[in-house]
Amino acid sequence: ASSATIEILGQRFPTDDYTNITPAIISRTHLQLHTTPAHPLSTLRTLIESAYPDFTHASTISPLVSPFKNFDELSFPADHPGRAVTDSYYVNRDMMLRTHTSAHEVEMFRAGETKWLLTADVYRRDEIDASHYPIFHQVEGARIFDTNAAGMKEVEEDNARLTSLLATANIVIEDIPHISPTNPVQPGHDPVFSELVAKNLKLSLNNLLLKVFGDVAGISAQEPLRVRWIEAYFPFTSPSFEVEVFFQGKWLEILGSGVIRQATLDTAGVQNKIGWAFGLGLERIAMVLFSIPDIRLFWSTDPRFLSQFKQGQINVFQPYSKYPSCFKDVSFWVPREFNLHENDFCDLVRDTAGDLVEDVKRIDQFVHPKTNRTSLCYRINYRSMDRSLSNEEINHVQSQVVARLKEQFGVEIR
Ligand code: PHE
Repeated sequence: ASSATIEILGQRFPTDDYTNITPAIISRTHLQLHTTPAHPLSTLRTLIESAYPDFTHASTISPLVSPFKNFDELSFPADHPGRAVTDSYYVNRDMMLRTHTSAHEVEMFRAGETKWLLTADVYRRDEIDASHYPIFHQVEGARIFDTNAAGMKEVEEDNARLTSLLATANIVIEDIPHISPTNPVQPGHDPVFSELVAKNLKLSLNNLLLKVFGDVAGISAQEPLRVRWIEAYFPFTSPSFEVEVFFQGKWLEILGSGVIRQATLDTAGVQNKIGWAFGLGLERIAMVLFSIPDIRLFWSTDPRFLSQFKQGQINVFQPYSKYPSCFKDVSFWVPREFNLHENDFCDLVRDTAGDLVEDVKRIDQFVHPKTNRTSLCYRINYRSMDRSLSNEEINHVQSQVVARLKEQFGVEIR
C-alpha cells in the first residue's frame, strides 16, 4: 500500500515509480550518530578533525540530495550502476538519500571553501551481515590551491612539513607513482602541479592514519603501521587512489581519494585552482579501534552500549554476553518475468525485523525446467544485540516477512 506522499525530516515529498525508501530508513535519517556525544563515531570524527585543525568542519548537512547532485555534478555516466533503484534509496525520481559525502563537493567549493572536512550519514542498499548496514558514515576532505607560483609554493612547503613529520614516525608505506599511464594526469593539468597535489594528498593522509591507528593496541611501539596505496578509479578524480591499512592480520580498505576532476571545480564556479579530495568510511575503522563486533551496535539504544564510551576517548568495547541466534528459512517461487533483486528482499526483511536481523544468506536457487519459474531459498539469521528473543517472537516476525513477501512481490511460498 503506497500513499501519494511521504514525510522525511519534516518535509513532504510526492512518491512515484522510483520511491523505494522504507519506514525503517526514514526513522533513522535524523539520528546524527556522528555528532552524538560519547558515540564512537563522534569520537572518531573529532579525532580526524583534530588532524586538520585549520580546515572548515561541517557535520550537519541533510542527506536529501538530487540525483543530479549525487551523480551528474561528479561526472558519473548516465548508465552508472550506482544510480539503479536496486542500489540507492530514492524518495522519488528527483530526490534521493546521498550515497556518498562527495555529493556535497560542488556546494562546498561554490561556497568558497578551500580546505574542508564534511562528516555525514550516507545510504546504500546492500546485503545484510555483521559489517554491512544500509546507513553508514563518511568523512569527505578536500583542499584546493591556486594554480600559480604562490599556490605551488604553498603545496611544496606543506609537503616539506608533512614529510618531516613522517620522517621520525614508525610507519611503512607501500607507495605507487603519483601519476602513471593507467592513472593519468587530467588533460589541462600541469603534470608537475598535479604530482605535487597527489603527493600532498598522500602525505596528509599518511599522517592522518598515523594519528588514527598509530597508538592503538595491535600496532605497538615496536610494530610499524603499514599503509599501502593502490591505483583506483572514480569518475570525479584523476589520478585516483585507494588506501589500505594492515590491522590485526588483515588489509582494511580505508578510503578513496584523488586529484579533483576539473569539471567539478568548473561546475562550482571555481577558477584557477587544483586540489585533492578523499572520502573515508567511519564504521569499519571504528569497529577495529573500539573492537565493536557488529555494525548494528552503533545504532543500539541500550545504555550498556553508549555508557561504555566517553567523548574523545578510544577504549575497547566489552560485549554484553552474545545472545543466542535463531535462523529461519523461507523458500518461494518467483513469478515469471519478475526479477526479485536481493536488495529488495533484504530491505523487506530489515523493514519488518529491524535490527533483530543479523545476517541474510541465499542458500538455494534453481530454475524449474518446465515452468521456467525461479525458486529461491533464503536463510534469515535473527539475533538481538541486547536481549534473548523468544521463539514466538521470531516466529511472529518471520510470518510477517512471509506475508509481506507474498503481498509485495507476489511470490508463491513453497
Ligand atoms: N565518494 C567515494 C566513495 O564513496 C570516495 C571518494 C571521495 C573518492 C573523494 C575520491 C574522492 O567511494
